[in-house]
Amino acid sequence: MNNIIDVKNLSVLFGGFKAVDNISFDVKKGEIFGFLGANGAGKTTTIRVLCGIIKPSGGKVFLEGEDVSKSTGILKNTIGYMSQKSTLYKDLTIAENITFSGRLYNMPDDRIEKRQKELFDFIGLKENLSKITGSLPLGIKQMVALCATVLHDPEIIFLDEPTAGVDPETREKFWELIKNMAKLGKTIFVTTHYMDEASYCQRIVLMDKGHIVDFDSPDNLKNSYFPQKPVEIKFKDKTLQNEITAEFEKQNAGYGYVFGDTLRFFINDKAVFEKVIFKYSNNIKQKETEPTLEDVFLKALKTENRK
Ligand SMILES: Nc1ncnc2c1ncn2[C@@H]1O[C@H](COP(=O)(O)OP(=O)(O)OP(=O)(O)O)[C@@H](O)[C@H]1O
Ligand SMILES: [Mg+2]
Repeated sequence: MNNIIDVKNLSVLFGGFKAVDNISFDVKKGEIFGFLGANGAGKTTTIRVLCGIIKPSGGKVFLEGEDVSKSTGILKNTIGYMSQKSTLYKDLTIAENITFSGRLYNMPDDRIEKRQKELFDFIGLKENLSKITGSLPLGIKQMVALCATVLHDPEIIFLDEPTAGVDPETREKFWELIKNMAKLGKTIFVTTHYMDEASYCQRIVLMDKGHIVDFDSPDNLKNSYFPQKPVEIKFKDKTLQNEITAEFEKQNAGYGYVFGDTLRFFINDKAVFEKVIFKYSNNIKQKETEPTLEDVFLKALKTENRK
């Protein structure tokens, strides 16, 4: 069995509102799978169905080939879920939080202690276990929450925005861990708003208002949305920036975003683009650049909203 998660025509209704609208995708064992989408896209709702916390209004979800809605609790040990809002108790110490998580999975205390030591070593976390969790910096708190999530050694790990608000250095460390867990054969299902993080995923789903806008590897998405590479245009004479942007728009050469002194431009029509740029060639410098996942995401949503 290759697909560790199979989602078929999943819908979730809250009253008359479709939070998740007929989505289908699969996740392979050992994959780092990213779920991206703006606020309210339906990411958390989908995870909650996959974890068996809420029942779908339509469709089916299979984990390790087992229908989640018919599962009799066997799956509980298969999955670990780090929810978007911290599940740690602020007024408990780190050790107490870890012990509490382990006992929820009926782990004996000596095994909890052994796993906790193993995981803290793996993570490189040297925090004093008697510290009150509420007093910890967010990055450390999220690391502890991750330990609590994987304490019972689950096969599938759901991480709902685990790095939101965490500083870049700690985010990088967190992702090293995620990658290491995947190397051990664990399947990671992660949501994030950080596009740089999404590029660590083998495949990503782009969600918008309950449905899947696109679903592929980061490289395939970049190539399919931008067969023509974007260009960066710098202006010697900054007053020309608005003029040339307006001219591009008027002639439908493409669209762009200005960052400081640079226009990042996405070409629709190369011939028109070159005709416009030729007029200004003494005043600008242009170079081809790589599309980012952020570019893909913005274009995908633009295209989607035009439908
Ligand atoms: N229990 C609920 N009852 C009613 N509406 C809900 C409920 N849970 C979620 N929703 C709505 O469903 C939609 C999807 O919510 P969800 O939390 O899944 O989005 P999300 O993609 O995780 O967003 P975010 O990036 O902000 O975490 C939102 O419009 C939300 O308000
Ligand atoms: Mg969410």
